[in-house]
Amino acid sequence: MNIFRDQVLHGKTVLISGGGTGLGREMAIGFGKLGANIAILGRREEILKETAADIMKFGTEIVYSKCDVRDPQQVKNSVEYFLQQFGSITTLVNNAAGNFISRTEDLSLNAFNAVVGIVLNGTVNLTMEVGKRWIHEKQGGVVLNISTIYGPTGSGYVVPSAVAKSGVISLTRSLAAEWGKFGIRHLAIAPGIVPTEGAMSRLAPTDDIKKMLIQRIPLKRYGTMEELVNLATFLISDGCTFLNGDVISIDGGEGLWLSGQFNFLDVLSDQEWEAIKSLRNK
Ligand code: HXC
Ligand code: NAP
Repeated sequence: MNIFRDQVLHGKTVLISGGGTGLGREMAIGFGKLGANIAILGRREEILKETAADIMKFGTEIVYSKCDVRDPQQVKNSVEYFLQQFGSITTLVNNAAGNFISRTEDLSLNAFNAVVGIVLNGTVNLTMEVGKRWIHEKQGGVVLNISTIYGPTGSGYVVPSAVAKSGVISLTRSLAAEWGKFGIRHLAIAPGIVPTEGAMSRLAPTDDIKKMLIQRIPLKRYGTMEELVNLATFLISDGCTFLNGDVISIDGGEGLWLSGQFNFLDVLSDQEWEAIKSLRNK
């Protein structure tokens, strides 16, 4: 279902980190279909090549570059390559991530650094590389960071990711304030669960975990990639250019559910509610 007018992103060149798989790939498809030029990067060249070939079939101009976002030199090389191909980058989507569930005491420091390096340092590396060019060229731009539902709150068992995603939110808000004067907008999306192979295999590896995750969502379902892409499209479009520094949740109400003290009463049966009513009458 296309809810946007044709070519609404025409004239934009969107760089998406981690654009070869999952949500990044879906954003690349969605933005491309609406007229944007697409640049994707990631560590696995074969995956990027396949994704680019798939997306080209829709008539989208797309290029890719093998890049580990943890390495500032690789980031610089990729950005320069994209600029040679397209002349400019108008929009940066920091989507690349690493994550897995683990008890924190079981983690090696290397495991911690691997995740923080991708999520936080990777986001900083790309934002600095692209942002400094925008400032120098006086051209403005949009940075859309993909955080998570637990970015604002923290969460056990995904601690490296929580630390990094919360840093990404802080970066979003801080640079929205500092770089707004250059015409650079910063926004973040905080998704709940949107099933992808990368996320589900690492974060919900058993049926029990999958079941527990869905029970907490008021809508009693996961999100879809299409829903996330629609939100991202709106945020990077010219339809909301006064929006800057916000973190938008898309989680079926899960975050709110968790913070409402009595929402746990969801588990009570009709019979238990009748018993509670009878206590009230006494
Ligand atoms: C504990 C682990 C581990 C695990 C790896 N390590 N997996 N420790 N539990 N499941 C440890 C390794 O033993 C190693 O430490 C260190 O982490 C680095 O591992 P490498 O495999 O060498 O690193 P690297 O190749 O850089 O891989 C990074 C990665 C990997 C994060 C570990 O999973 C990855 O490439 N992920 C990319 C895709 C991804 O994670 N997608 C999910 C995004 S979903 P030692 O000490 O042994 O050297 C998401 C949000 C979802 O982010 C939120 C709600 C659903
Ligand atoms: P995914 O398919 O595993 O995507 C992660 C992408 O990041 C991959 O394409 C991966 O490609 C790339 N990547 C990882 N390490 C990299 C590195 N060092 N340098 C460059 N690229 C790297 O998972 P996803 O579910 O689509 O996640 C996309 C984003 O959504 C992430 O930011 C994630 O935290 C966020 N999110 C997802 C969910 C969800 O339910 N799916 C929920 C909340 C937030 P390579 O391995 O080839 O490098």
